[in-house]
Amino acid sequence: MVALNDQDMLPTIIQGGMGVSVSGWQLARSVSQTGELGVVSGTALDVVCARRLMMGDPGGHVRQALAAFPIPAMARRVMKRYYIHGGKAADEPFRAVPRFTVTPPVALQELTVVGAFCEVWLAKQEHSGPVGINFLRKIEIPLPFGLLGAMLADVDYILIGAGNPAEIPAVLRALAQCEDVEFGVRTQGLRSVDAPVSVRCSPAELLDDAGRDLALPRFLAIVASLDLAAGLARDPSTRPFGFIVEGPSAGGHNAPPRGPRRVDELGQPVYDERDTVDLDGMAALGLPFWLAGGYGTPAGLTQARAAGAQGIQVGTAFAYSQESGLADSLKRQVLGKVLAGTLDVRSDWRASPTGFPFRVIQLEGTVSDPEIAAARKAVCDLGALRTPFIKANGDIDYRCPAEPLAVYTRKGGRAQNAEGRQCLCNALMAAADFPQQRPDGSTEPAIVTSGDDFQAVLAVASSGSDGGPYPARAVVDYLRAGLTAG
Ligand SMILES: Cc1cc2nc3c(=O)[nH]c(=O)nc-3n(C[C@H](O)[C@H](O)[C@H](O)COP(=O)(O)O)c2cc1C
Repeated sequence: MVALNDQDMLPTIIQGGMGVSVSGWQLARSVSQTGELGVVSGTALDVVCARRLMMGDPGGHVRQALAAFPIPAMARRVMKRYYIHGGKAADEPFRAVPRFTVTPPVALQELTVVGAFCEVWLAKQEHSGPVGINFLRKIEIPLPFGLLGAMLADVDYILIGAGNPAEIPAVLRALAQCEDVEFGVRTQGLRSVDAPVSVRCSPAELLDDAGRDLALPRFLAIVASLDLAAGLARDPSTRPFGFIVEGPSAGGHNAPPRGPRRVDELGQPVYDERDTVDLDGMAALGLPFWLAGGYGTPAGLTQARAAGAQGIQVGTAFAYSQESGLADSLKRQVLGKVLAGTLDVRSDWRASPTGFPFRVIQLEGTVSDPEIAAARKAVCDLGALRTPFIKANGDIDYRCPAEPLAVYTRKGGRAQNAEGRQCLCNALMAAADFPQQRPDGSTEPAIVTSGDDFQAVLAVASSGSDGGPYPARAVVDYLRAGLTAG
């Protein structure tokens, strides 16, 4: 373990970022109140913030955060655009939020900054501990705006996975000094002779206050290989504060296997020894690290510490806590199956438009049910997973393999690549209890992602009175037993 003095006290347990809105501010706040690190999900916070306001902001939390936003005129503009007093009617659709392009309208930049600010600000209330925010490197275009909003709320840790986050330390340094960021955006079809594609984030223009100095958060890179970690650590300009080493049993998106592409009889990716990260090598890098993916038990914590890690990052055990943002009915459905021993979690290589394996719980009434998936009409109205490409005339357009097939293929996408893809944007919004209503009267169905290690869930849920969702603190207490085991 890396030796640090008291003021640098590091958490032993990190509650992992879980998108969309599964790790919202309520969960992160509860975990941080225990002295460990609570992490909010930074995914699609523009849409989450707008939808909370359109639901009338029950409890008034978003309005409380907006009142603390340092640029009151911007907060007022967001309120004016999205707040519905008393909330929209349950069967009325949410109003659209514009989709990101590399030249996002100022109103969308503002909504993204404000959304991230609110989430972190709320997570930081009623305690003095640190709070983190998690982003997916793959969702590139909104990233600098989300980082800026989180830093305005004085976020302590930034955690980024699902891609190589080499540019992030430099981006954080620039934003902290209120300097403009030109954030490179990977674009299909771009030739080496073409001008690079990027999105510009100008804190000075957005915040109307070029002199503002923001605190630099600690950056934790989420990696699945020693090669990536060593490459980032080698160069001072890419070196993170530390690492989360995530194995393939974690929830959400997983790194694909490193060996040749192989699937089992259910179509799940097959991992082998090439995917096991060399922990001695990680320790030798000299930066703090935490282990994630199936380490969420007292024994997992003991094992991680014995391997030289500071501790563990845990997701699944917190996803079914009272404070998580997963719809209550889904939590109860999953917990019922866990207690009955009938839960089935699959790693699906087709579902996510990103092409990364995505772990999905097989659950009635959700997209994992083939009938529900087949009946779903593709509507790409959130577009978080669209990627830019260069059209024949040199312009930039955007496509997602889960958008309507005819549209995707018209844009040059291959039909084969669209097979089995699910609109995760809408399904994850539905799982977080923000389902969109469709003009034909239907409601977007949910998808539930999860890790596949349910030991902690079983232990904590069965010790509660009704086998239902439990307080997040109970998970922390359960895990901390691993600190004294020996
Ligand atoms: C519901 C759910 C959603 C997740 N979403 C994300 C995400 O958006 N970004 C991310 O980096 N990790 C995500 N994860 C991974 C967690 O942050 C964490 O690393 C992982 O769950 C740890 O493994 P465990 O589930 O076995 O404890 C998610 C996990 C779960 C269970």
